[in-house]
Amino acid sequence: MEKKSTITDKLSRPIKDLRISVTDRCNFRCTYCMPEQIYGHKYQFINKSSLLNFEEIITITEILVEMGVQKVRLTGGEPLLRDKIEDLVFDLSKISGIKELTLTTNGYLLPQKAQKLRDSGLDRITVSLDSLNNEIFKKVNGRNIDVSKVLKGIEAAEKAGFMPIKINCVVEKGINENSIIDMAEYFKAKGHILRFIEFMDVGTLNKWNLNKVVSAKEIVQIINSKMPIRPIAPTYFGEVASRYQYKDGSGEIGIIASVTQPFCGNCTRLRLSPEGSLYTCLFSNTGTDMKKILRSSNGQDLRSLIKKTWQTRTDKYSIDRSSNINKSTKKVEMYHIGG
Ligand code: GTP
Ligand code: 5AD
Ligand code: SF4
Ligand code: SF4
Repeated sequence: MEKKSTITDKLSRPIKDLRISVTDRCNFRCTYCMPEQIYGHKYQFINKSSLLNFEEIITITEILVEMGVQKVRLTGGEPLLRDKIEDLVFDLSKISGIKELTLTTNGYLLPQKAQKLRDSGLDRITVSLDSLNNEIFKKVNGRNIDVSKVLKGIEAAEKAGFMPIKINCVVEKGINENSIIDMAEYFKAKGHILRFIEFMDVGTLNKWNLNKVVSAKEIVQIINSKMPIRPIAPTYFGEVASRYQYKDGSGEIGIIASVTQPFCGNCTRLRLSPEGSLYTCLFSNTGTDMKKILRSSNGQDLRSLIKKTWQTRTDKYSIDRSSNINKSTKKVEMYHIGG
């Protein structure tokens, strides 16, 4: 076995986090991610035989852990739709160098899955939820799903012992900025960590433009007007969210300002797609295929390719965004790479 030492990219950034997207399927059709008009009944998602199997995912993860990865997050699409996801969690939880094993979900299937995930060794859960207003939420999720379904999922995760839970709320101008205060009050009372995310230009389908972004500064102003907050220090190097604490001493929120305050300088994340490509940036147009080599060649070739993929990395899309804005580049879709 190769000696464990953290590898760095061309901008001296160490590799630390691996985000594994386990499926491109989802039971929601969020307007900014998988619009129903495009992803209707006839849409062909990746077929099962093209997905990496659990053993292959584990092989890649073990190599990356030797190279420095300490934190692993399962994403999708909706990761709880992947058959026997708890078995993958169990296998990953046995890899000794992983300090934190987490998962991001839309919450719908948590009543069935939360306890199994906990028992299999999952450390934390993040749930995406954009509004507590049922009419707004039903429109955003594209499938008329009631907000109560997600709240039940969050409750199931609480009961299974995932506390605190992180809640991700993407803020889109004219859609849900009026939900910010309700969300903050509700999750403060519950003791969860709510994070507001600036609407990003990921993928090619969400008709993004700068006018649809509610900036971190505006979000802070909205919250401050009702519930005073102050900034606090990050919990770890490279944390994506800027943290704030309520001045009354109870509870924290986060703001992920990828558009107005890009954080590429500290970006330690590598992404694995469901069919086995490694993406070095959320905004990449192509990934590096691992599956071919996994299925045909020896371990040393795979290791070298993975290493090279990180060591040649130069991505800093969000920092360069303003100069790229009018270029219509091809980009991987969010539901494929999992945010
Ligand atoms: P924790 O702090 O451990 O909870 O992890 P996290 O903040 O990375 O969690 P999560 O996966 O919930 O990401 C939150 C949001 O930040 C999502 O909308 C992601 O798409 C976005 N995000 C995460 N990593 C990156 C990144 O490298 N670049 C950009 N631009 N956005 C990111
Ligand atoms: N901008 C910001 N966040 C997004 N997400 C999905 N699409 C976008 C976007 N365009 C969020 C999801 C989920 C996380 C993984 O990424 O809501 O919480
Ligand atoms: Fe599904 Fe998440 Fe995309 Fe919504 S944002 S369609 S829940 S993958
Ligand atoms: Fe990392 Fe790309 Fe996000 Fe920048 S835009 S933080 S390089 S994933």
